[in-house]
Amino acid sequence: FSEFLTDTHGRKHNYLRISITERCNLRCVYCMPEEGVELTPSEETLTSDEIIRIVKLFASQGVTKIRLTGGEPTVRTDIVDLVQSIKQVPGIKEICMTSNGLALHRKLPALIRNGGLTSLNLSLDTLVEGKFLLITRRNGLSAVLKSINKALELGVPKLKINVVIMKGVNEDELLNFVALARDNQIEVRFIEYMPFDGNKWSNNKMITYQDMLDNIRVSYPSIRRIAHKPGDTAKLFEIPGFLGTIGFITSMTENFCSSCTRLRITNDGNLKTCLFGNDELDLKTLLREGTSDKRMLEAIGAAVKLKKASHAGLGDLENMPNRPMILIGG
Ligand code: GTP
Ligand code: 5AD
Ligand code: SF4
Repeated sequence: FSEFLTDTHGRKHNYLRISITERCNLRCVYCMPEEGVELTPSEETLTSDEIIRIVKLFASQGVTKIRLTGGEPTVRTDIVDLVQSIKQVPGIKEICMTSNGLALHRKLPALIRNGGLTSLNLSLDTLVEGKFLLITRRNGLSAVLKSINKALELGVPKLKINVVIMKGVNEDELLNFVALARDNQIEVRFIEYMPFDGNKWSNNKMITYQDMLDNIRVSYPSIRRIAHKPGDTAKLFEIPGFLGTIGFITSMTENFCSSCTRLRITNDGNLKTCLFGNDELDLKTLLREGTSDKRMLEAIGAAVKLKKASHAGLGDLENMPNRPMILIGG
């Protein structure tokens, strides 16, 4: 594996998350402040050609998995072409997307048939119409459900639903989401609420993994832990008789940093080595200065070597400078 993508803790980064837009058709409370965020001028965001060049560079060093994030990736009109072009890069085995599902259903057939999307993660935090408006500051629950059904119908190789659980907001819906995994081949993942700039996180808005699991166990005592792929974010569980599985993303109470395989590219062209903190390398400027692949790789290697063993931990995370989630992509 490439020396450049191996850090000083022995972690090999074969998974690149790329934010392909800062724009979004929802306004989720955990992702951006009410007043919105200042968007990067479009000439300062990565072009498709620049994205492909970055994918080629990382693929040449052993990256095999790309996940497109945002903002909301489907607001890009060239999304199908982009997925298709990335899929064709030698070395890329998995091309994945995380979407809020609002406008996805229209593009799904092309994304799967022409684009060859290998995995789709859909965000949905409530099954109650009125609450959808509260959480996303927009309407659209039925459109998201349509995307889920379309994805099932088309048979996306891997379908996951991301549910950020927030105290007093949607904790009462845990079992309704569990039922989605009972009846469908979906991995339903409950996510601990994480702090980002502008999302007004506080410890008492968070429900811990243990609390969620205890709650589910009351109704499903046979729930049991199963192995997950190294580097995966979620701890995985099965319940006998279920078509799908249940996952928990426990970044706050039991981080998975020691098996981290991820690097990310922000839409304004920075390499961000960890979801938290502000360690970033301005790749875009290097690209636009006509830097050679060799020099680029040296700069990337140096940035990766600075990656910390783990994020700052529950006590410090909320005070450390970072971007709002919408400008990272998760
Ligand atoms: P897979 O590729 O299917 O493993 O998906 P994923 O879980 O990596 O990605 P997704 O975009 O669906 O994100 C689900 C949740 O995991 C979100 O809350 C992300 O912020 C979080 N997440 C993604 N990558 C990381 C990471 O490197 N560290 C931490 N702490 N959380 C992450
Ligand atoms: N805490 C936890 N997960 C979050 N996401 C967005 N903001 C947060 C947060 N503050 C999740 C979304 C989406 C994924 C990319 O990140 O639900 O599915
Ligand atoms: Fe990797 Fe940072 Fe996420 Fe930990 S918090 S798993 S080090 S990206």
